[in-house]
Amino acid sequence: MPVRNLMQMASFATFFSFFIPMWAFARSSGHAADSDMCSSHAQISMLQLGSVLTQQPQNQCGHLLIDACDPRANYRCSNNCRIHSHGADCFRSVVDVMNEHPGTDGYCWFNATAFWVIYAGPVPHFEDEAVSGILGLREPDYKGLNKGPLLTYYFEGQVITSYMDSAHYSFDDLYGYALGFLQGQGLDPAWMKDPSRWISLSQQACDRIQQSYNFSNEELVLADWLDHNQVLASMAFCSAGVIYNITDQSLLASSRGSPSCRNITRRDMAKHHYVKCVLGHRNSAGDMAYLNSRACLLEGNRIGHFSECPYSPPGVDF
Ligand SMILES: *[C@@H]1O[C@H](CO)[C@@H](O)[C@H](O)[C@H]1NC(C)=O
Ligand SMILES: *[C@@H]1O[C@H](CO)[C@@H](O)[C@H](O)[C@H]1NC(C)=O
Ligand SMILES: *[C@@H]1O[C@H](CO)[C@@H](O)[C@H](O)[C@H]1NC(C)=O
Ligand SMILES: *[C@@H]1O[C@H](CO)[C@@H](O)[C@H](O)[C@H]1NC(C)=O
Repeated sequence: MPVRNLMQMASFATFFSFFIPMWAFARSSGHAADSDMCSSHAQISMLQLGSVLTQQPQNQCGHLLIDACDPRANYRCSNNCRIHSHGADCFRSVVDVMNEHPGTDGYCWFNATAFWVIYAGPVPHFEDEAVSGILGLREPDYKGLNKGPLLTYYFEGQVITSYMDSAHYSFDDLYGYALGFLQGQGLDPAWMKDPSRWISLSQQACDRIQQSYNFSNEELVLADWLDHNQVLASMAFCSAGVIYNITDQSLLASSRGSPSCRNITRRDMAKHHYVKCVLGHRNSAGDMAYLNSRACLLEGNRIGHFSECPYSPPGVDF
């Protein structure tokens, strides 16, 4: 997520099996691009996360203290810090928190602080997790390949086009492009089959990001990162000159004049990814797998998806 950009993890499909109804339910009344996004949260608060929350034995991973997403988040299920077993750590630098718990996966420590932060266990299956991520985000507004509007993004001096077949594409397409993780930008999806290689490639990408941007510890606070997810999604729309109306799934052309509209930058994208790096390269590698699996850079700076790309994720019809 974009927005939801998002995510990876073996339990991902399970998670989304209850998340999707919440997503579908909430979509009619709230989105970051709308000025009044808070109105939906009272509705979300009534929804229960379901039996998944009590099926697994608790271990050292973080977990929610009640069986619901915090309705005070600025987007559905996007910030559960205040009802989380490690919630106090959300408001500190993730660098400090991770240093205090050597060997602990950040997605375990902060498990379920948001819908895209779910610990999937120590053994990664990047191809499968990417497919789960793609399918989990597909509902409810997926229009079909190249059936959405063709948007033109102005991004760091580049002009990039992409069909927005689902609302989260605007964030995730630009995010993958900005990080250089699309097919056609040098990363071969075949390398996903070797998890340690994929994680080490992710680590290299993370190191390059930090060499470029030198993010300070104070900039890397989990709660800020969670709250910023939807802000980034809005900025990605802004870069295409549109505002997305989630109520009727229409695009309001021309976001100019909208006070909250700022075009997204490479630094914005790098920072979003870098928090995942600090939370563990298994997690940044999962993000990289998701972004690499779903899209490719085609001729003329168009971003293509799935069957338009050299590699399309296995076992699913796109
Ligand atoms: C993650 O948090 C959820 C929600 O509280 C919990 O049900 C699940 O058991 C946690 N996962 C792990 C691995 O502890
Ligand atoms: C990176 O930022 C830190 C402060 O967070 C500063 O002390 C350091 O000099 C910076 N390094 C570079 C190479 O800019
Ligand atoms: C921001 O994006 C809009 C819409 O694509 C574009 O018209 C504008 O030139 C961009 N601004 C900058 C400074 O790139
Ligand atoms: C979004 O769509 C709904 C339903 O068509 C409409 O009532 C509302 O005014 C739209 N919002 C904006 C900001 O145009």
